[in-house]
Amino acid sequence: MKDIAVIGTGYVGLVVAVGLADFGNRVIGVDIDDAKIIMLNKGGLPFYEPGLKDYLEANIESGRLSFTQDISSAIVRSTVVFLAVGTPPKRDGSANLKYLESSVDTIAKYARAYTLVVTKSTVPVGTNRALGERIRALGATAEIEMVSNPEFLREGRAIQDFFHPDRVVIGAESDRARKTLADIYSALRLDEVPFVWCGLETAELIKYATNAFLATKIAFINQMANLADKAGADIALIAKSMGMDGRIGEKFLHPGPGFGGSCLPKDIRALVSAGNNLNVDMSLVKAVIAANEEQKTRVVVKLRELLGAQLRGLSIAVLGLAFKSNTDDVRESPALRVVADLLEGGALIRAHDPRAMDNFRAIFPDISYYASAHGAIKGADAVLVLTEWNEYRSLDFNLMSREMKGRVILDTRNLLNSKLAREHGLVYWDNGRI
Ligand code: UGA
Repeated sequence: MKDIAVIGTGYVGLVVAVGLADFGNRVIGVDIDDAKIIMLNKGGLPFYEPGLKDYLEANIESGRLSFTQDISSAIVRSTVVFLAVGTPPKRDGSANLKYLESSVDTIAKYARAYTLVVTKSTVPVGTNRALGERIRALGATAEIEMVSNPEFLREGRAIQDFFHPDRVVIGAESDRARKTLADIYSALRLDEVPFVWCGLETAELIKYATNAFLATKIAFINQMANLADKAGADIALIAKSMGMDGRIGEKFLHPGPGFGGSCLPKDIRALVSAGNNLNVDMSLVKAVIAANEEQKTRVVVKLRELLGAQLRGLSIAVLGLAFKSNTDDVRESPALRVVADLLEGGALIRAHDPRAMDNFRAIFPDISYYASAHGAIKGADAVLVLTEWNEYRSLDFNLMSREMKGRVILDTRNLLNSKLAREHGLVYWDNGRI
């Protein structure tokens, strides 16, 4: 059992804190947000993540997990400090490291004995080494060592990903650090999860390379879907057959309105910025960024085509505001661009999302929100499906054809049964299927 502090209680930090406590470690989560700390100590969650609440409550109850605003006391009592603070993008796309830097400054100031600082935040290559040098330059009295342990959690599946990861990557440079991490993750080692032991820079780049490759897969299949649409081919079968090739794999080949979220878009921009700094051509990654922007724009262009009319004055039901299903997160969600484009065209928005309406309302307070998908659909000239929520798979076409004012359905995620929709007299457009 280790005494661990986790600095930052966002999506990554909170899941890591809960998971490490569940492994039997004594964990204290640290955040500057007072209200959040009070909420967490009572077992309340500041965001929606399936399954997390049960783990949070159980580990608080066991006495192994607590939360504080007092970073100095958390550092003093811990031998390992995980960093899970944000690295938001700066104007030029590079990652802003100010939260990480202030965290290590505080660790340098308060650590009394050997402390391992484990970076979970996604950071540009070279950051962990630079942070180690920063600590030394500050003249820390205790020996402090940096480790890079990037996280591969997906929002909406974070608990599953934490307890059953495809691999654990650890960039560490001493036997002592490697041994400590091996102890912390011993539960996963018993489960025979593969561990990749490497240096700091390799670990940092593994994370960026992985997210950039996933983004590339999505951008690729989106362009193929656009082509299949024009060519009269079926993207579902194309993706399935591609996936049967073991060299490609079936995952992340679902076309959609473009990828979003707090990770993929930010990380590929940071990778371009790293290429610029190190004078390495990143033209492929740049093309992925451009293709994704184009994909988001394409949604309203397609809708205009289908409606064969001006958008001005038309009511558009927008189903799905979160950047993907099973989350309330709207950061870089394609819905942000789509709604902005629709509003610019003069359309009236009737929005629905099972979880993300509050977060979306904070950005678009003046559009209409409905408690149910059918509420949003009623009287709409067109329906636009943007997020792959399961509940949209079973939309009632009978009701839709009776209650919609218009006929058009644009299903960017290929969720609905196209044949059935057309049988109900709806003008159904999916994304590259026939
Ligand atoms: C992503 C990675 O998948 C995680 O492994 C990583 O840990 C995380 O970023 C991170 O860096 O913290 P996440 O942002 O939660 O996770 O979301 P994804 O499941 O990767 O989805 C990203 C976007 O791609 C969503 O908008 C989703 O709808 C879209 N997507 C995904 C598609 O359009 N098609 C697909 O086939 C898959």
